[in-house]
Amino acid sequence: MRTLLAAGILVGGLIVLQDQAGALDNGVARTPPMGWNSWNTFGCNINETLIKQMADAIVNSGLRDLGYKYVVVDDCWFDPTRDSAGNLRGNPSRFPGGMKALGDYLHAKGLKFGIYQVPVDKTCAQYFGGYPGATGSQGHEVQDAKQFAAWGVDYLKYDWCSPSGTIDDQVRTFAKMRDALAATGRPIVYSINPNSIHAKTGPQRNWGDVANLWRTTEDITNKWNTGQTNGYPMGIQNIVDVTVPLASYAKPGAFNDPDMMEVGRGGMTDTEMRSHFALWAIMASPLIAGNDLRSMDPATTTILKNQNLIAINQDPLGLQARQVSNDGTRRVLAKKLGNGDVAVALFNQGDSTTTISTTASAIGLAGDSFTLRDAWTNAVSASTGTISAAVPSHGTVVYRVSGGTSSTPTPTPTPSGPADGCTAAYRLVNDWGTGFQSEVTVSNPGPSAIDGWTVKLTLAGGQTISSLWNGVNTGTSGTVTVKNTAYNGTVAANGTTTFGFTAGGNGSAAPTAVTCTTP
Ligand code: GLA
Repeated sequence: MRTLLAAGILVGGLIVLQDQAGALDNGVARTPPMGWNSWNTFGCNINETLIKQMADAIVNSGLRDLGYKYVVVDDCWFDPTRDSAGNLRGNPSRFPGGMKALGDYLHAKGLKFGIYQVPVDKTCAQYFGGYPGATGSQGHEVQDAKQFAAWGVDYLKYDWCSPSGTIDDQVRTFAKMRDALAATGRPIVYSINPNSIHAKTGPQRNWGDVANLWRTTEDITNKWNTGQTNGYPMGIQNIVDVTVPLASYAKPGAFNDPDMMEVGRGGMTDTEMRSHFALWAIMASPLIAGNDLRSMDPATTTILKNQNLIAINQDPLGLQARQVSNDGTRRVLAKKLGNGDVAVALFNQGDSTTTISTTASAIGLAGDSFTLRDAWTNAVSASTGTISAAVPSHGTVVYRVSGGTSSTPTPTPTPSGPADGCTAAYRLVNDWGTGFQSEVTVSNPGPSAIDGWTVKLTLAGGQTISSLWNGVNTGTSGTVTVKNTAYNGTVAANGTTTFGFTAGGNGSAAPTAVTCTTP
């Protein structure tokens, strides 16, 4: 795959690269999908009445009109056996009206119909023995895609619930259903999860060529921090840590999916619930509620209905917030918006209230007169460039910043290694036990653009690079040289570019002697 990509760059430059890593061109999920999914609250205990009640609640609560349209029926909806022709069927006692009728009910209410299935032989509930049968799509991809289209399905959640298969097997297998869905002619949001009970391959590549949405982590739970890096179950802070570095993958039609929301499900403070929603919104994540919508308390309703945050999430540029700075406690994320505004999140990861500050220039706005609208309070304030707030522990203040003109963000200094026209900063992004993912930021601190760079890094003994992107490497272990590729070799004055890699073989110790040189 990587060899193919490198070859493509040589012959075709940028255009080929975009084709390789391009978003799925199926016309759907141009902004992150919003809706509700049955799993977080109801698990396997679902039926037709419950789903219809939830659909009614989405409409009556006003959530539908704010954009929450997809009603996703998760695991345990199906008959444990296929019919004599091999077709999937709804479970006749749980869904006596059948799946087509359920789809019709949702559509008549102005909602969209989502359903769960797996590319392997057993759904997750079947794998864990919580539900009988083995009705996965393996070997039935085309037949099942046709069936879903015939039922009026608008969204397929396709979950790799198996420890087996390499990442390349996963790409091939997920692509089968992508193509089968496309062949039906019905626009269907394709949402994959490569991570369940599997090596965490979600954050290891840009899946935008395979799916509209891809899960970045193991399953979420209603806790702030479970101490997991990427293992079951994940808290809000843990998911943010994995998903923030993947920002460059997001675009219309292709979004990182940090899992369905836990807003309104207890287990966290109101501040943490607000932070969860604000971070999902600014990360351009699907906003799929997971609570019981029939019995929401006012605090939950206030969060899910925050129109400032929904507008930031649904912005047509489809960008995920980029990290501006993170000192371990104070984390600043910024998301450029279609009208030239920038949304900025001031996120306090620490245990006590602290002041978090950034500047207009750091978030990519030039000028000296700005308006800040607080997404939670609606309060409007003026600023000459400072963006700052006292933020409670685990809280997130979000401002929509207007005014000034768009500029290249002034980079946060990322020094390391001897500077010879460029510097390189190494960062561990994710560690899943048997391997890790890292990112190297190449910075040009000088007053004029550089044309080309070479980074040398010496991996810890026993570590081997399995895949590298946004650069071309010589060697995969020991001292590795990475050069610029056609599209990111030129780095503007004060600009940065990044490349990433995954490696394994011996822990996740950082490489030594990371250096950057220019020609
Ligand atoms: C996996 C998925 C969950 C849910 C369950 C259903 O764990 O990650 O989101 O779909 O399967 O069994």
